[in-house]
Amino acid sequence: MLDPLGGLERTHTCGELREQDVGKDVVLMGWAAKKRDFGIFTFIDLRDRYGLTQVVVSEEEAEDAHTKAKSVRGEYVVAVKGTVVKREEGTVNEKLPTGAVEVRVIEILILNEAKTLPFELEKSGSQNLASEDLRLKYRYVDLRRRFLQDNLMVRAKALRKMREFMDSKGFVEIETPILLKSTPEGARDFVVPSRIHSGKFFALPQSPQILKQITMISGLDRYYQLARCFRDEDLRADRQPEFTQLDIEMSFANQEMVFRVMEGVLAEVFSLSDAKFETPFPRMTYADAMRRYGSDKPDIRFGMELIDLSGEFEGTDFPPFAKTLEAGGEIKCIVASGCAGYSRKILDGHQEFVKRYGASGLAWIKLGDETTSSLMKALGEEKINSLAEAAGAENGDAIFLVAGRKSVVAASLGALRKEIAKAEDLVPKGVYKPLWVTEFPMFEFNEDTENYDPMHHPFTSLMDEDVPLFKRAIEGGEKDLLGKIRAVAYDIVINGYEIGSGSIRVHQSEIQSLIFKAQGLTPETARERFGFFLEALEYGTPPHGGFAAGVERIVMLLCGTDNIRDVLAFPKTASAQDLMMDSPGEVDKDQLDELGLKIAT
Ligand code: AMO
Repeated sequence: MLDPLGGLERTHTCGELREQDVGKDVVLMGWAAKKRDFGIFTFIDLRDRYGLTQVVVSEEEAEDAHTKAKSVRGEYVVAVKGTVVKREEGTVNEKLPTGAVEVRVIEILILNEAKTLPFELEKSGSQNLASEDLRLKYRYVDLRRRFLQDNLMVRAKALRKMREFMDSKGFVEIETPILLKSTPEGARDFVVPSRIHSGKFFALPQSPQILKQITMISGLDRYYQLARCFRDEDLRADRQPEFTQLDIEMSFANQEMVFRVMEGVLAEVFSLSDAKFETPFPRMTYADAMRRYGSDKPDIRFGMELIDLSGEFEGTDFPPFAKTLEAGGEIKCIVASGCAGYSRKILDGHQEFVKRYGASGLAWIKLGDETTSSLMKALGEEKINSLAEAAGAENGDAIFLVAGRKSVVAASLGALRKEIAKAEDLVPKGVYKPLWVTEFPMFEFNEDTENYDPMHHPFTSLMDEDVPLFKRAIEGGEKDLLGKIRAVAYDIVINGYEIGSGSIRVHQSEIQSLIFKAQGLTPETARERFGFFLEALEYGTPPHGGFAAGVERIVMLLCGTDNIRDVLAFPKTASAQDLMMDSPGEVDKDQLDELGLKIAT
């Protein structure tokens, strides 16, 4: 028989009682995290969101309560009435904030029972022996773990800091609709069929990009939103189909103004952590980031930059390198300091690793009293030594070289750099290293469609210096020039994570039309998809720009986790399913009929 709660109210939470509360009569409620029976005493660890308190029921002092306490099992929901007492010497639990006291119970109510949990809650951190799928199916149980509750609280605090900062700077929180028309951010849309307009569909926003720009046309001057975004794309450890952005837009803004706002709000948010977070952020152009780190989201907490050795191989008769250079490729290396002792097994492992990024192989040099190299036979000792000198390597270091297409060299060495840094423990802990990456290319070549797609999105303005080149590309038909045009687009990268992106926007309708044309949209398609926006641009659009930061990525950094599911209450799996609700699910035939839909397969 369960006890009713009736009018009983908690006096304290399970994380609250301290030595100064000794003698107080209290009522606590929570979950029985653990129970131990010791003859006439039964101990229960009572847990709630705030902490854990030990309560003790004595057969002598409260016989009925003791009998009931003995029937309590793991995760039963109980209420206890009792008195706070000091724990006896030797039984104080220093690790627990409430560990100096316990509650002597006179009455216990069993408010609810619980089945045996599908997995244990005790494990700390993100480690848990249960599989993630099982934990996601029973997310309500998983969310009882301290680690996840702490993460959700950090998230709530971060959201509050964002709101407070944006409000203080005069930004207006504006909610934009979820039922929308397609918004291009490079992913697939989630679509929602319309019942009233049979055969027609809404799309969920990939971001509120167009709408926030329209609020600028409307004169709202400074917009922000904690915006839900939906993208049907392949998931990774830092991606979910549904996520939240701190989305901002400002009128009459240049890049510097956007930078100041974003540095300000992020400094506020990261003040939730004790780790250092300095503003203003350093800046690096996209071209430099790719050249030095092989990545547009470089982790600058450690060095090991990519070094270009192409010049050292000019005129080489070593066929693989000669061919690479002939084909316009490059030969680059990284120097792994103190790694000359790497075994054959490690070298083979790295070899396999770079192949995943398209590299055909990985050459190495180990510098020491006896220098060895996979290139020794082909190049000879003298050349190996001069390469080591050009790379700035010293005795005891290992050098890794990749030759190939520029994109392959960047991707493979960029990834190997991070891999070695992790293995060698070169990444300092407890620091945040934010970075602005600027001057992104406006377009990137899409090998599948043989078209140039906007790298950020089509609403990004071009760098003034590159406008003549753009005009030549469009009007003169020199399409390949599109690959050289830079945009006033920028990302914030922190510790190797892309935290967010933004740009100064196009505010003239004719340039916007030219960009649509450059990306291969016919005037008809552009009008059909974005006609309303092109028209809106003609009604007095102020110059404007903005930014969107990924809330999950920020909270992941604050919580020190690299799994995005650790910072969402109800995340989807890596295959975009909700295992708890078992969605996506099927719908009734009636519902399909009503929507005018038929499942083809
Ligand atoms: P972008 O597409 O770069 O820009 O997105 C901005 C930031 O949102 C986060 N993000 C994601 N987080 C989790 N899961 C995902 N699937 C996901 N996709 C993106 C990232 C990313 O940097 N409208 C533009 C912004 C603008 O120009 O103002 C936009 O959405 O942290």
